[in-house]
Amino acid sequence: MWTVKRAGGARVKRAGKRKFESCQFSTVVTTAYTMDELAGEIRLCGACPLSKKRKNAVPGEGRLRSGIVFVGEAPGAKEDAQGRPFIGSAGKLLSGLLKINGILREEVFITNTVKCRPPGNRPPKPAEMNACRPYLERQLHILKPRLVCTLGNSPLHALVGAGLNISEVHGKITEVGGIRFLPLYHPAAILYRRRLMVEMEKDFKVIGRIAREAPAAPEPPSGERPLPNEVPPLVGHIEEWADRGR
Ligand code: URA
Repeated sequence: MWTVKRAGGARVKRAGKRKFESCQFSTVVTTAYTMDELAGEIRLCGACPLSKKRKNAVPGEGRLRSGIVFVGEAPGAKEDAQGRPFIGSAGKLLSGLLKINGILREEVFITNTVKCRPPGNRPPKPAEMNACRPYLERQLHILKPRLVCTLGNSPLHALVGAGLNISEVHGKITEVGGIRFLPLYHPAAILYRRRLMVEMEKDFKVIGRIAREAPAAPEPPSGERPLPNEVPPLVGHIEEWADRGR
């Protein structure tokens, strides 16, 4: 018998052995003010077992002040080898979809829910996403985006809502914690299920429209330290999702 704390503080009893997915790894504490400082912390991180097997951590890259951020699932083999996000076939599709909407890949910021590659390219586990979460929250705090596009289930469940079904919510802007999210299919899903391409193209038009709404702010001078040290949590902890044994 063990107990789990639900959002709101109530404790619920659980029978049997505590599942691996529900346990927490060391708590990441970030003190970074700038994206470069944060990337440095991520490259040294050892908070969860994914860090042990990585060749390179993949903090993310792109424009800091474009206002548009993409959050994928986790680095794959190519990303792990080079330390850069979305550089394989899913990345090519992402760049192509951006381009037909008048946006260059370099003009947006691209990162992932977890910064190290899960073995065998499996989706990240809830405990791994929780361990890495302070980095993602810090990135969003630094970026102050106008729109966060989630790619696939992991960032959707971690940032927007644990129980959401991507086929129902994709393309619909929803606001959580003062941030606008646009849930999208993962580009890799489109590569396997070509019929989703029509939907994806429609959803990307929304990004094109938002990008044209307001021009990107100028990039901050390098080394600028504009932030207070406190980063409020974006949305609730994803333990509830972990409880369901996903
Ligand atoms: N898939 C992702 O979710 N992220 C990457 O960086 C590459 C592929």
